[in-house]
Amino acid sequence: MSIHKQTYKDKLKKRNLVAYSSPDSLISEQYRTIRTNIKFSSVSKKRNIIMITSPTSAEGKSTTAANLAVSMAQNKEKVLLIDANLRNPAIHSIFKVPNKSGLTNILSGLSTLENTIFRTGMGELDVLTSGPIPFNPGEIIGLPAMQEFLIQCEENYDIILIDSPSILEVTDTKILADYCHGIILVFNSGKTEIKKALATKRILQFVEDKIIGVVLNENPETRLTNLLKKIL
Ligand SMILES: Nc1ncnc2c1ncn2[C@@H]1O[C@H](COP(=O)(O)OP(=O)(O)OP(=O)(O)O)[C@@H](O)[C@H]1O
Ligand SMILES: [Mg+2]
Repeated sequence: MSIHKQTYKDKLKKRNLVAYSSPDSLISEQYRTIRTNIKFSSVSKKRNIIMITSPTSAEGKSTTAANLAVSMAQNKEKVLLIDANLRNPAIHSIFKVPNKSGLTNILSGLSTLENTIFRTGMGELDVLTSGPIPFNPGEIIGLPAMQEFLIQCEENYDIILIDSPSILEVTDTKILADYCHGIILVFNSGKTEIKKALATKRILQFVEDKIIGVVLNENPETRLTNLLKKIL
């Protein structure tokens, strides 16, 4: 009888990491296109720290951040993916890793980056999960300690991707936007309301030049796509 020992990489095939499990798929090709667009936008501007956000919840931020991180690592970049959505962290479940310690432990001075990251083995992709959820989850990401931490990360990685909370629901997300060099907006094309897309754009006006682009998640052939062309 042969015993199949499930490896870490086997486990991942069951999750939403299409860029890893099906690199030849059309979806993975789309992630490579986003990756290339980021690269182009980095020619004239520094874009090492990039956050992924959206107007409201469940629009596909974590899915986009995780797959983009894998895609960048496949391109031989040294990548750190940080889960900064302390309200509803998801990166640990997408990568099937424990979340006993993570970003919150580092920000509170209880742990170091070196001791907390998970090395995925997918190229040079390291993942930093959220860590235990604090009582004030919305406020932590806007603290100066977060900015100092990101500056420290820059010394060790080519690119830092931050899976963030939504803009309209967690106000400190906009402070985090100030700490980053680039912002990717994820809109769920079937769900995001135009007025919320516009409100997001308005809130981010003070960092408008950092917005790299919009990822239209799920079905792109909708009313929203046409309206977005007018808005952006
Ligand atoms: N393109 C897609 N096609 C089908 N399902 C998707 C797609 N993108 C995301 N999903 C699913 O939608 C749900 C929400 O996605 P995800 O967790 O990435 O959103 P989120 O914006 O990070 O949510 P939150 O605001 O809670 O952090 C998940 O179950 C995910 O698997
Ligand atoms: Mg999420």
